[in-house]
Amino acid sequence: MNERVNLLEVRNLCKKFPVGERFFGAPRHWLHAVCDVEFDIPRKSVFGFVGESGSGKSTIANMISGVHHPSSGQILFKGRPLSDAPEVRRGIQMVFQDPETSLDPRKTVRFLVGEGLALHRMGTKSERDVKVRTVLSSVGLSYEVLNKYPHELSGGQRQRVAVARALILQPELLVLDEPTSALDVSVQAQILNLLMDLQRAFSLTYIFITHDLKIVSHFADNIAVLYLGRIVEIGPVDEVVDKPRHPYTRALLDSVPDPGKALNRKPIKGEIPSPLDPPAGCVFRTRCPLAHEICRIAPEYRIVQKSRILCHLA
Ligand SMILES: Nc1ncnc2c1ncn2[C@@H]1O[C@H](COP(=O)(O)OP(=O)(O)OP(=O)(O)O)[C@@H](O)[C@H]1O
Ligand code: SF4
Ligand SMILES: [Mg+2]
Repeated sequence: MNERVNLLEVRNLCKKFPVGERFFGAPRHWLHAVCDVEFDIPRKSVFGFVGESGSGKSTIANMISGVHHPSSGQILFKGRPLSDAPEVRRGIQMVFQDPETSLDPRKTVRFLVGEGLALHRMGTKSERDVKVRTVLSSVGLSYEVLNKYPHELSGGQRQRVAVARALILQPELLVLDEPTSALDVSVQAQILNLLMDLQRAFSLTYIFITHDLKIVSHFADNIAVLYLGRIVEIGPVDEVVDKPRHPYTRALLDSVPDPGKALNRKPIKGEIPSPLDPPAGCVFRTRCPLAHEICRIAPEYRIVQKSRILCHLA
């Protein structure tokens, strides 16, 4: 039987959060954190999500990994709607930004890494212990850390434990939410290299979330650029990064400092509007250098070569 090309398919995904309470308990406002997001992730590929703070990256990750329920839309994993069935849940694991908060400080590495196996009642205690040792070695940690607590480890070691904890359930999809941004610059590259080695070794599919378009461009196959909960540009990395078309993608690329050149960083003009009161028409209108009268009308997606772009003029 042929395997589906796409491991994950997402259609019209929306998430709104209630904000503030009225007298009778109804929400005062709805904050639209994710609006009509659609994308496909081919098996064994790396899919990058990029955007400024508050653009909806973690909300999407949390819906895919089951932390949040979508307000509407569909997430298909291997062609089946995402459900709470344990075998589906096991196939998708998440690594969070900051291992200091994502790992329980009162538990040892042995417990933290083996917890998923114990929860799913997989194997005997000694079989689970063998798996814990195997997965620790695959993330570059020695058995000496088994009885240590998170505070006894370095930041890089803690993130390796978080990766081991996700890998032990042999997921097919790993959702990595800014996995290196809480780490010292010196260890960021080590963790990125480890993640890429693991992806190849275990034929994993990754969703890699970052605010740095240049970092993800080194290893992603496809990239989606998010602004105020909408995908504004999506396509293969060589299109999105080498031939950016949306003014926001271009502004993001220009805002990343280039160590080779001095004084070349151009921060994106203006503040991000409140997601409680986004601009009418194109949501990037208030910061866009190309904004025009027509931009008061919301644009629809256009296909340009292999990319999909939400802009009237790009
Ligand atoms: N539980 C919640 N209740 C209300 N609003 C929320 C909740 N979670 C997220 N939001 C809002 O949804 C929007 C998207 O948040 P999200 O955390 O997904 O952004 P992000 O792109 O991951 O940002 P960052 O780069 O800072 O991590 C933000 O405006 C945020 O304030
Ligand atoms: S639709 Fe208009 S405002 Fe929006 S990104 Fe395109 S040019 Fe800029
Ligand atoms: Mg986030």
